[in-house]
Amino acid sequence: MRGVILAGGRGTRLQPLTLAVNKALLPVGMVPLFYHHLYLMAEAGIGDVLVVSTPEDSGDIMRACGSGLAHGLSLTYRVQDKPDGIASALKLAEDFVRDEPFVVLLGDNLFFPRADAVGPIRDFVASDLKYRLFVVRRDDPRAFGVAIWRDGKVIDIIEKPAEVVSRDAVVGLYCYKPDIFPILRELKPSARGELEISDLNRRLVQEGGGDVKRLHMEWIDAGT
Ligand code: TTP
Repeated sequence: MRGVILAGGRGTRLQPLTLAVNKALLPVGMVPLFYHHLYLMAEAGIGDVLVVSTPEDSGDIMRACGSGLAHGLSLTYRVQDKPDGIASALKLAEDFVRDEPFVVLLGDNLFFPRADAVGPIRDFVASDLKYRLFVVRRDDPRAFGVAIWRDGKVIDIIEKPAEVVSRDAVVGLYCYKPDIFPILRELKPSARGELEISDLNRRLVQEGGGDVKRLHMEWIDAGT
């Protein structure tokens, strides 16, 4: 299994902190947020991790994380020239993952205790599931994509719903197989001009063949 960390984007909501520093390098505890991502990858038994970031920030992430050896990982870096969406950043992982299952982590999502996510990531490798998404319960999840359940299965994902139609927020941790890449190529930019990861995930849950796990852990979307 391979890992992909998406740490591009503009980070506008965290300005001025992010004017000179990538969001994922801001401190959480005594280490950059990014180290928590490396810990999660290592604990999930993933050795090879692709890091996608911007032309401006890739050098800083490289300086902070190096080859990954100190964390028991082998890091590969790729640059996303324009912040044209999370799904667009994910396209850059195609030749890196080749024919392996992989886990994708958004650079501003923080999970603890990490152990709760590690088991479901590891299980995915041996499964014949096409995808595994994760939800965390939120009293008011309207700022996120939310999962709509029917008969114990997630059948739809609604992005930033105007009303609370579900309390299950879809978090920035996704397990996929390489057959998502043809779907990514078909995605069209949204109204804000980005290729949206929610469009990929909605298509996957509508087609079925995967599952959605509820995590009973703390989850912080550190975009704000
Ligand atoms: P977002 O929080 O959706 O976007 P952002 O990081 O640009 O922040 P803001 O909305 O405040 O301007 O992105 C979530 C994560 O996805 C973030 O950690 C970076 C990553 N990302 C990319 O890798 N490429 C992209 O083009 C975008 C938009 C985000």
